[in-house]
This record gives sequence, C-alpha cells and structure tokens, in this order.
Amino acid sequence: MENLISLVNKLQRACTALGDHGEENALPTLWDSLPAIAVVGGQSSGKSSVLESVVGKDFLPRGSVIVTRRPLVLQLNRIDGPGEYAEFMHLKNKRFTDFALVRKEIADETDRGTSRTKQISTVPIYLSIYSPNVVNLTLIDLPGLTKVAIEGQPDSIVHEIENMPNCIILAISPANQDLATSDAIKISREVDLKGERTFGVLTKIDLMDKGTDAVDMLEGRSYRLQYPWIGVVNRSQQDINKNVDMIAARIREREYFASIPEYRHLAHKMGSEHLAKMLSKRLESVIKSRIPGIQSLIAKATAELETELCRLGNPIAADAGGKLYTIMEICRMFDTIYKEHLDGARSGGEKI
Ligand code: GDP
Ligand code: NA
Ligand code: MG
Repeated sequence: MENLISLVNKLQRACTALGDHGEENALPTLWDSLPAIAVVGGQSSGKSSVLESVVGKDFLPRGSVIVTRRPLVLQLNRIDGPGEYAEFMHLKNKRFTDFALVRKEIADETDRGTSRTKQISTVPIYLSIYSPNVVNLTLIDLPGLTKVAIEGQPDSIVHEIENMPNCIILAISPANQDLATSDAIKISREVDLKGERTFGVLTKIDLMDKGTDAVDMLEGRSYRLQYPWIGVVNRSQQDINKNVDMIAARIREREYFASIPEYRHLAHKMGSEHLAKMLSKRLESVIKSRIPGIQSLIAKATAELETELCRLGNPIAADAGGKLYTIMEICRMFDTIYKEHLDGARSGGEKI
C-alpha cells in the first residue's frame, strides 16, 4: 500500500495538471485543502538552508537578489538508494542527478513563469527528490514575503496561508535576533494565534553573542508554541563557499548540540534530521485526520470535471479524461486506506 504522503503528492500534481480547465471548479479549493508544510521567514533567516539540510543536498538558487517568485512544491520521497535524483513535473521523464542543474532549472523555470519581470506567480513549480537521505515529506516554499519592493502584495503570504486551512507552518527565525522582530513569528501570529499548527525553527544558534544562549527560546519561554521549538545549525556562508558537504554538515550539527553544555539536555530534540522526522510524522497525522474532508472535495471536483468534459467534447476530453481517471484512482486509494485505518481503530489499533 502506498504511503499517505505520496498519495497526497499525486493529488497535488493532478490538481495542478487539471487546473487550467476553468477557474470556477473545485480543484483550487481541493489543492488549498491538501495538508502541506509552508516555509515562512524573513530574508536571510535561513529558509533555503533549512530546506537544503532537510533534503541533504544543495539545490536552491542562492543570493539575496534571487527571491522565491513562484511557489516551489518540494516533494521528498525516501528510496532505498544508493543513487539519488530529482524530477520536475514540467520536464516529464528527465532525471537530474546533478543538483547544480536542478538549481539552474528552478531559476530558469521561475523566469519562464514570470516572464523575467520579477513578478510573482501563483503557479507552482513541482520538484520531486528521490533519495535514501530524506523522509517522506512535502514542503512548499511560498513567494510573497520580502521587504524589498517587488510587484505583488507584500503580505500575500498571509492570505495564501489563510486559504490553506490544513497547512502546517514551518516558521524560521534566526537565534541571533530578537524573536519579537521575527517575520516568521509575525506571520504565524497572524494566521495561527494559538500556535497550534506552527513548527518553530531557530537557526544561527552558532552565531549568537558569546555569553548568551538559545535555551529560553528553545524551551518555549520566549514565544510559546504547541510543538517544541527545534534548533538547527546550518552551513555558514564560508561553509557554502567552501562547498562543505551537506551530510558532513548534519554530523557536525549533531556534534554541536551534544558538545555544548547548555544544549546537551536538548540535543536529541535538535537538528535538521530530527526536524524532518517530526514534520513527516505530523504531516502524516494531519493527512489521516483530513481524509474524509479530502474525499468529499475529490468527489465534488470529479463531478464538476466530468460535467465539464462532456461539455468540451471528445478531442480535449481524451487527455483530460486520463488525468481525471488518475484523480478518481487516487480517490479510491484514499478510500481503501481510510477503511483500513477505521478497521485498525475499531480493533484497538492506531487511532485516526
Ligand atoms: P534565506 O534568505 O532565508 O533563504 O536564508 P539562507 O538560507 O540563504 O541563509 C542566509 C545566510 O545565512 C547564508 O549565508 C547562510 O550560510 C547563513 N546561515 C543560515 N543558517 C545559518 C546557521 O545556522 N549558522 C550559520 N553560521 N549561518 C547560517
Ligand atoms: Na526573521
Ligand atoms: Mg532563500
């Protein structure tokens, strides 16, 4: 049986593939309702670094000039390996094993989708990574949070997240700045006042002033969230320049928390690998709890699509019909998984 996260991944892609068949249908609503993890944080807070350490590869366009202008939907799939590769939805059947080319393709595809005007587009870029170094996880890097004046609404990210009721917020704040001024916390407070769906990540712990530490922040005394804060130590700019290997950086990060007396008692709950595991677990449980809602939205979307296909007639229907079939197939798989979980819950097994 397929895992729930990869099932939702398929559904996300199918919604986007079918999305240009009219604005009025239920597909955008379905897409927005799919559980996902949205990454938020101010410029240079360490968003790209966190995404890369969760993946264990550097593959994101770098530099302060390059900001995210299209949503990047990053679908991580654990495989047995030893090889690792990436695929874009817009480049069917092309496998990337050189992650420098992945970086270039993200930049190029962003330009194609925004016609180099530096505008923001809402059409996502889908990147799937298959690797033995990842856990199953879907992360969305949303555009719209930037202090430099570019076209588009400066606070569009807040509206975006408000429209995604099932999305988990991955809020990235640098430890060497006051949490009260953190953009990530500002956004989280606006859309999740009680901190019920926010994972707080503290970066740059290694860059704090001598004589200070992040313990108050990490133990939730500075800003309270329902889930424990997770501290990370990413590669510094110098490490990036020297091409320090990501897996070596993860090991160094582990040693950092284990070796510093202030953090030793928290070490097992710190670091990028722990973060990835916690996020994967949480995502799966949100998906489980949302299966009935997802199913009814799928039913609504497929009914609308079927009506539309009839109206459009045969030539278009052949292609769209195939995709519609995919969605219905996914719907059936959800059904099976849901029933299994219900049976499991009844027989005293895992609760939904
Ligand atoms: P973004 O703008 O939020 O995507 O931030 P980046 O991930 O690009 O990071 C901005 C800069 O901060 C880069 O030079 C990173 O090397 C550096 N950086 C990020 N996280 C850490 C960290 O935990 N420790 C150190 N020393 N540097 C970091
Ligand atoms: Na910030
Ligand atoms: Mg970045």
